[in-house]
Amino acid sequence: MREKKDVRLFFALWPDDEVRAQIASILNQINLDRDQCRLVKNNNLHLTLHFIGNTSIAEMKCLDRQARGFDAEPFELTLDCSGYFKKPKVIWIGCKSVPQVLYDLHGNLGGQIAQCAYTPETRPFSPHITVARKIIEPPGPIPFEPVPWQVNQFVLVKSISVPGGVRYEVVESYSLI
Ligand code: 2AM
Repeated sequence: MREKKDVRLFFALWPDDEVRAQIASILNQINLDRDQCRLVKNNNLHLTLHFIGNTSIAEMKCLDRQARGFDAEPFELTLDCSGYFKKPKVIWIGCKSVPQVLYDLHGNLGGQIAQCAYTPETRPFSPHITVARKIIEPPGPIPFEPVPWQVNQFVLVKSISVPGGVRYEVVESYSLI
C-alpha cells in the first residue's frame, strides 16, 4: 500500500521579529497595487533551504533526526537587494553577496536529508525571501537600507492550507553552534 502523505514540509531560515519588522517597513514604503498582488504575511516570511513537499510522518521523523544530528556554525546575512522571478511572478529580498557558509549549510543539510525520502533539487540554490506574489509587471529594484540578520538556527516548517492562503507552523528549530 502507498504510504499516506500527511504533512507538507520545508526547511528554512526563519527571520527574528526585528528582521520581520524591518522587511514589513520596507514593503510599506513601496508602491504595489495591493488589489492585484499578494503580499506575504509578515509571520510567513522565510528563506527556504529545502522544499520537501508532501511527506509521511515516518519521513518527517527521519528528516528531523537528520537535522538534529547536523552541525553548522551561526553566521550573519545582510539583506540588501531585491529582485523579481518571472515564472512564479514573485518579488524577493536577498543578499548581493551570499556567504559561503549559507551555501555550505544548504549543501550539507541536503546531503543529510537525502538519506530520508528526499531528493535534493539539482538547480542551483538561489537564497531569497519571497515578499510578494502575483506580480505581473516586474518592478525596478527596491531601494532600502541593508538589514543585518544574525542567523542562529534553521527550522523545519509545516505548510498548512487555510482559507485565502497558507499558514506556516515551525515544527522544530535546530540551533547553529
Ligand atoms: P517561494 O516562496 O520562493 O516561492 C514553501 O512553499 C516554500 O518552499 C516557499 O518559500 C517556496 O518558495 C518554496 N518552494 C520551493 N519549491 C517549491 C515547490 N515546488 N512548491 C511550493 N513551494 C516551493
